[in-house]
Amino acid sequence: MRQVRAHKTTGKKTLRDPSRDLLDWYDVHARDMPWRVPPAARTAGVLPDPYAVWMSEVMLQQTTVAAVRGYHRKFLSLWPTVKDLAAADDADVMAAWAGLGYYARARNLLKCARAVVADYDGVFPDTFDALLDLPGIGPYTAAAVAAIAFDRPETVVDGNVERVMARLHDIHAPLPGAKAKLTALAKDLTPQSRPGDYAQAVMDLGATICTPRNPACGICPWRSPCKARAVGTAPELPRKTPKKKTPTRFGIAYVVRRSDGAWLLETRPESGLLGGMLGWPGSEWGENPQHDPPLQADWSELATEARHTFTHFHLRLKIMTATVNHRVAPARGVFLSATDFSPSALPTAMRKVFDLAAATLSLD
Ligand code: ADE
Repeated sequence: MRQVRAHKTTGKKTLRDPSRDLLDWYDVHARDMPWRVPPAARTAGVLPDPYAVWMSEVMLQQTTVAAVRGYHRKFLSLWPTVKDLAAADDADVMAAWAGLGYYARARNLLKCARAVVADYDGVFPDTFDALLDLPGIGPYTAAAVAAIAFDRPETVVDGNVERVMARLHDIHAPLPGAKAKLTALAKDLTPQSRPGDYAQAVMDLGATICTPRNPACGICPWRSPCKARAVGTAPELPRKTPKKKTPTRFGIAYVVRRSDGAWLLETRPESGLLGGMLGWPGSEWGENPQHDPPLQADWSELATEARHTFTHFHLRLKIMTATVNHRVAPARGVFLSATDFSPSALPTAMRKVFDLAAATLSLD
């Protein structure tokens, strides 16, 4: 494999290490993020709080930088240190995570915080291997925290980095098969000097210049070594193996309002989708859901279904609503008074049900 580290002389031309050009670009264009230490301060020896970095990386696997800002601020103000998070109530953490999706990540976040406290007295370990050993930390997060928080020369490969590598080297093999190849190419370019800034720089490049559509090749710090730009294939890369069509599952959600304003809610089983989250009592989700109302009532069916897309399937929930008096005892779930219930603590699929149902149930 070709290793281009420092300056390399080939005949007439001096090839500059591409990582230097990228770092020069990052010094001027680094995106401002609350958990980030800007390049000038890092170069002066300041490193970010590993807890804040870890939290940001877990959240960024779920959504965009713009959406993560608010969640990150909320989590750090509720639980400023990993010890605070480890001591938190599971339900409070799940409620604060609501809206970010994929709730297994929130459960793993707590498991990991508790392991850092139990095994490392609340101090994050500073190597890729030790980080990888923690619950809920995979190769991506271990590399990101090791590089960004501890300046270890680890290679961080997310979708942005895959795209940048595929273009830089004009790789036409499709993802996900090409992942190992793109990771090896990314490793080859990772510098020993400033690896934390470098990791963030490649991701910033992918997010702002080497974008999926309409890459801004004219202003790219890697426009000269980029092979795909030279042959005009950049906008087509990376190629992807076509996905199977996403299936649709169907379900029924029962929204019950009691005459004193309380709502009937149920904590979902720990295992399975939305595990441990608050939701409306409902049917199984599948091809042909069976009616299984949590209590006897005069049910009305809403004309509109709630629709939500999870990682592997689309969900369509039929919504049944009822108003009941306060003597009714449900077979499932518990009534939460209006003051104890906050729709924002519901996972998004369940909040969509609430938004549709609330309009039809009197809220006075
Ligand atoms: N995407 C995920 N993590 C990131 C980071 N640390 N910097 C820029 N983009 C990212």
